[in-house]
Amino acid sequence: MTEASPLLPDIKKLIKTSGPLPVWRYMQLCLTHPEHGYYIARDPLGREGDFITSPEVSQMFGELIGLWAASVWRAMGSPTTLRLIELGPGRGTMMADALRALRVLPPMHQALSVHLVEINPVLREKQKAALSDARTIQWHASLDEVPQGPAIILANEYFDVLPVHQMVKRDDGWYERVVDIDGSGQLVFGTTAAPTPRFDALLPPLVRAAPVGAIFEWRPDAEMMTIATRVRDHGGAALIIDYGHVRSDAGDTFQAIAGHSFADPLKYPGQADVTAHVDFQALARAAEDIGARVHGPVTQGEFLQRLGIEARAVNLMAKATPEISEGISTALKRLTEGGRGGMGSMFKAIGVSDSSLTELAGLSDRKRRGGIRAP
Ligand SMILES: C[S@@+](CC[C@H](N)C(=O)[O-])C[C@H]1O[C@@H](n2cnc3c(N)ncnc32)[C@H](O)[C@@H]1O
Repeated sequence: MTEASPLLPDIKKLIKTSGPLPVWRYMQLCLTHPEHGYYIARDPLGREGDFITSPEVSQMFGELIGLWAASVWRAMGSPTTLRLIELGPGRGTMMADALRALRVLPPMHQALSVHLVEINPVLREKQKAALSDARTIQWHASLDEVPQGPAIILANEYFDVLPVHQMVKRDDGWYERVVDIDGSGQLVFGTTAAPTPRFDALLPPLVRAAPVGAIFEWRPDAEMMTIATRVRDHGGAALIIDYGHVRSDAGDTFQAIAGHSFADPLKYPGQADVTAHVDFQALARAAEDIGARVHGPVTQGEFLQRLGIEARAVNLMAKATPEISEGISTALKRLTEGGRGGMGSMFKAIGVSDSSLTELAGLSDRKRRGGIRAP
């Protein structure tokens, strides 16, 4: 990436007038600045874009999520009205594949109203096109705007773009990591002048024991609290899939991705996707504190296998040319296996539901309750 960043002068001006920006605020500006934010005026997905997500790898992903939603709807007692909500739906591919899979279940299809929570006008247009033959769809700027009622909430690669705080451990406490300007006018990382009072007391023991110099990342619980409160009070479940770790731990995962490669997160603000891994233990804790039931997390590979992705692949391959079959087999590996380029182990799936739903398909392991959930 070589273009000058139109957001850089604004960020420098802000630092000069108001002081260094906490990493979370820098990330927020990079992604959602009203004029130059990364997610405000572009479609970053696909081979020509910056990254590819699971729904864009294969139709199998969205289809299985649709069937997962069907099993939740049945477990809920087949309600006659149900909100199917997706947070950050990208190009609308996952919802389109899910709705197509759900046509086999007319009573559920008829019960649905579809709600997309999206801030990006370019992607909203793509979602409109992808879902043009679907029933009425409503768009919202936040989950709070979606009317209450029994719901199934889906979020794939949504939490990783929510702004993250970074804290740096020193001998005398944890300091908030900030973005500052150095003597040559470049953006650089620094820390606040004083530690955050009593931050240590909030940390899990593993993080508290981290060595001096360690970085710990945390996100506000607000989004998970909204999701958990909604399913607790109105019934239903949420499925969150993202890359991240099952146990809260120290580590610097703040990263930028542009043109399918890692980039310096301070180099091109607003022009590269800046993300940080999701802390699934923190998500689970936030949901349980609200009184919702947590299922998993399990790895994406395990989740998709339990939902029957291999059988679906075999079925699709039976009708395909050898070339297309090869593509399906590659996609299956990419979605379910670990290793280089594989999304099967780095990505995890977690469910959150009202307490009456004791099991959720693919997430509740009867033999090994809680799947790979951290102790
Ligand atoms: C990494 S993309 C994932 C897209 C899609 N879920 C997929 O898997 O292909 C993140 C999505 O979240 C949207 N988004 C980013 N920040 C958001 C916010 N604060 N509120 C709502 N949507 C947001 C983006 O526009 C985009 O649709």
